Amino acid sequence: MPRAVVCRELGPPEKLTLEDVARAPLEPGQVRVAIHAAGLNFPDILMAAGAYQLKPPLPFTPGMEAAGDVIEVAGADGFHPGDKVIVKARFGCYADEIIAAPDQLMPLPLTFDYAQGAAFLAAHGTAWHALHDRARIAPGEVLLVHGAGGGVGLAAVELGKVAGATVIACASSEEKLEVAKQRGADHGVLYGREPFKDAVKRITDGRGADVVFDPVGGPIFEDSLRCIAWGARLLVIGFTGGVGVAKTNLILIKGASVLGVRAGEAVRKNPALNVARMADLTRLANERRISPNISHRLPLEDYAKAMRLLMDRRAIGRVVLEMH
Ligand SMILES: NC(=O)c1ccc[n+]([C@@H]2O[C@H](COP(=O)([O-])OP(=O)(O)OC[C@H]3O[C@@H](n4cnc5c(N)ncnc54)[C@H](OP(=O)(O)O)[C@@H]3O)[C@@H](O)[C@H]2O)c1
Repeated sequence: MPRAVVCRELGPPEKLTLEDVARAPLEPGQVRVAIHAAGLNFPDILMAAGAYQLKPPLPFTPGMEAAGDVIEVAGADGFHPGDKVIVKARFGCYADEIIAAPDQLMPLPLTFDYAQGAAFLAAHGTAWHALHDRARIAPGEVLLVHGAGGGVGLAAVELGKVAGATVIACASSEEKLEVAKQRGADHGVLYGREPFKDAVKRITDGRGADVVFDPVGGPIFEDSLRCIAWGARLLVIGFTGGVGVAKTNLILIKGASVLGVRAGEAVRKNPALNVARMADLTRLANERRISPNISHRLPLEDYAKAMRLLMDRRAIGRVVLEMH
């Protein structure tokens, strides 16, 4: 029987249980995927705690992305048993199997193993949408990335560099900064060492950053307004450090824009957006110019330990659960 991590009661990861689950029959147009790896994302933790904008009815299985093999197809064109695929879902991926619709699947890039495929789309898709669809980043601009050792942060470092930006990475440890530099960051700023706004002004000769990628929020968002260039775009990605408050006078003085980013919702509202995003990410992956940095791989049964790695800020890039 396939296993799944089940949330029956909202709370910390330790409240989740690993259970044998009955295999539901496929409906027409559906595909069954045997999952080999599932990527962890911060929203999984928030969802299991009831603190995320999406609140699935209980019980549910967390997990927004996975990679594996198609094992059964019910009239879904273009997919066959044995196909290696990436699965994108809102939840359900911390499991041995998942039932998906064809539009939730994409071929696993040839250069990736299952773990890399499972750790790719949420972070790199979000970073791509933020930098290109929202900020319209241009070559030569200065990109400031907060939480640059985290999942979406490290993806933004890589994609910013590919887009021709000068990337300033900020993180809370030398180890995280080292990985950000390996992934292309031109400068690393350690939060505890000097106020990052001073470092950004020093690095840019007082000009400031053109684009700020902020998955952290809180005081970091507020301080970012003090080191931006004229016409800057501030990308609001997430709130791991709390919800930030904007000083509107600083936004006015710099002719700046604050842009909310919801990568998944943007595609649900405008599916056409996904075409350019997926084509570019697949091309860059196949050219080996981007790939997720996976700091930890754990077996499915260690799901709570894996989620704690994110909560304790010990992950660098991505954490992945492996099933087989
Ligand atoms: N808008 C969207 O479409 C979208 C999509 C995906 C994710 N997100 C959001 O983006 C944020 C980051 O997600 P992720 O999956 O990249 O998470 P992650 O891998 O855990 O990275 C989060 C980073 O935030 C920093 N951080 C600061 N305070 C923290 C705290 N109290 N607890 C944990 N981390 C803290 C950490 O960097 P340092 O330790 O170096 O400070 C960490 O590396 C989340 O809020 C998530 O909901 C948004």
